[in-house]
Amino acid sequence: MRNYCGLRRPVTQSVRDAVQEDFPEITLIGDADLRRQTIEAWSHSLCCSNFMRITDLPPEGNPGAPVLRRGTQADHLRGVVRLAVRMADEMTNSYPEARIDRDILLAGAVCHDVGKPFEFDPANRERWRADASATGQPTFRHSVFGMHVCLLVGLPDEVAHIALGHSMEGQFIGVSTECMIVRQADHCWWFLAGAVGLLTPESTAVLSPMLRARATQMR
Ligand SMILES: [Fe+2]
Repeated sequence: MRNYCGLRRPVTQSVRDAVQEDFPEITLIGDADLRRQTIEAWSHSLCCSNFMRITDLPPEGNPGAPVLRRGTQADHLRGVVRLAVRMADEMTNSYPEARIDRDILLAGAVCHDVGKPFEFDPANRERWRADASATGQPTFRHSVFGMHVCLLVGLPDEVAHIALGHSMEGQFIGVSTECMIVRQADHCWWFLAGAVGLLTPESTAVLSPMLRARATQMR
């Protein structure tokens, strides 16, 4: 028995630099501390796995489904940040009385899938496959591991709440305004990716029985 959630290698500046390089939307976060902590969260999470950088993570919602035909996890993460911002802008532009904390929204969108390195790590998956009755399968989903990482690096509860609540765990709690927006942006992103034909056909069943994917020409 041991704790498999710790660092496998030290968090170095080159890991942090790669996070910023792969995820330029982090610069949209206005508060410098919050920005630094989101970089630290992704760097820490990567170093708890064998993935070297965000663009090494496969482009999947959950391991195995849904799966993008091409790209990396960074394409999804970046798209969710941009979509969440557009959703927020739509509401505040039309209804100035709508109150949204933009930095919490941005940091939460950046970190919503920060637990994926743990859940997608091949060694963890092999261990869970070998004896799921002992480990659970997975031991923690990315939403739960993501909340752990956010709190570990000192991110506010409001951001950790988004990592937890953006996914199915959110069904069992009341979610914040910013969490609701990220949750909708995240789910919307996968549904639309399916509808416009960006997902592998065999991986779309998990999304919705309503989905009919458009045929796309592969470049
Ligand atoms: Fe996501």
